Amino acid sequence: MTSASTVKPSFSVDAIRREFPVLQRDFGGKKLVYLDSACTALKSAGVGEAAASFYRELGGCGGKRSTHLLAQAVEAELIKARQAAADFLNAESANEIVFTSGTTEAVNLVARAFPFDERREVVLTDLEHNAVFLPFYEAAQRKEIELKICRSKNGRVDPDELAKLVGDKTALVAITHASNVAGGVQPLAEIVRHAHGRGARVLVDDAQFVASHREDVQTLNADFVAFSAHKIGGPFGLGVLYGKEVELNRLRHYKVGGGVVKSVKWSGKGMPEVVYLDAPMRFEAGVSNFSAYPALTEAVRFLKTIPAAPLRAHISSLVKRAAEAIDEIPEVKVLGKADDLADGSLVSFYPVHKEFSVTDFNLYLNHELGDRFVAVRAGEHCAHLLHQSLKLDGTVRASFFAYNTADEVDLFVGALKSYAKEACS
Ligand SMILES: Cc1ncc(COP(=O)(O)O)c(C=O)c1O
Repeated sequence: MTSASTVKPSFSVDAIRREFPVLQRDFGGKKLVYLDSACTALKSAGVGEAAASFYRELGGCGGKRSTHLLAQAVEAELIKARQAAADFLNAESANEIVFTSGTTEAVNLVARAFPFDERREVVLTDLEHNAVFLPFYEAAQRKEIELKICRSKNGRVDPDELAKLVGDKTALVAITHASNVAGGVQPLAEIVRHAHGRGARVLVDDAQFVASHREDVQTLNADFVAFSAHKIGGPFGLGVLYGKEVELNRLRHYKVGGGVVKSVKWSGKGMPEVVYLDAPMRFEAGVSNFSAYPALTEAVRFLKTIPAAPLRAHISSLVKRAAEAIDEIPEVKVLGKADDLADGSLVSFYPVHKEFSVTDFNLYLNHELGDRFVAVRAGEHCAHLLHQSLKLDGTVRASFFAYNTADEVDLFVGALKSYAKEACS
């Protein structure tokens, strides 16, 4: 682990910041300090322009419904984005990339379409976001599966504990690569190996991982990997479900409609005969969010201009700096240990002093910092199971990305200290 004080990013954080118009504008005389990238990463000017120019210059029928030149140009944007996503994840082929509306829809797709048979157990963990927990909870309610939930310890999954739940009846292990509350990263290599050894498939939620770590799906070797474009600085309303081609083609249907069939014919036997396309098209029914494709392609291009290892070192140094400093404040407690958290991109903490009000602290961050305000996130972060396990009503989360600086960390920690002193003395 690199020490917080010695890391010098070999990319220019200032140059990156200049690409984000929202960091230049002011909100009623205040500039934004954005420590909420775990919710969504800010969008670069290029991403905004890519979406806008789609509407300005294309914006017509696509999706192979028409064959005119405009439709071909629109379709080309989808094809480019699919290839960009495949390259970004180091997938073997663009056919392994299914577009969804986000991580949430990607997980719902797998939960709905996975061919559960006599293997019908799904193992997940209490770290899962509701986007992962609820689709499988609902499948269990419908009696399609049996759900087993591995309890984490101090925000980390113990692979040995998880392994105890994975057996001959396990169809799928669904697990986050990086929790949106506990931070750090989960030991997935071991978990994937063990699950495969027992004949189970693995679905990885990469929503909080892929922007700040990158992902090589061939090395990870999970069967399915999901992420949302907006979490890497791309457009809202677009997600990626990577799946090994053979696994995607084993899935049943999820949503069906226009654009998913090879043929529909009267069969002469009453019911028409339907022949579906192969993955990925089979899963992408309906006219899609075409404007998002060039924006995703641009977000991936932009992210790839930031070298992976220095980006990781930069984010680690910010996390460690924040975690160590917050740890010194007696009125709150950090979830986890600084060195471990530094593997991830966020720090969460919770009040231990009864006078510390998270709501008031948020107001303080908005209104009491002169010409700046700090955006963090407080609450249960759609991770209710984890908060229940930890017996916490809520946590405050500060999350970091390429455009954040040590000065912003210091401003935030300073504000936290001042608020705690004012509120709790
Ligand atoms: C770990 C994790 N998984 C899944 C999701 C769901 O992502 P989306 O709402 O973009 O579908 C989130 C969003 O915050 C998340 O943090």
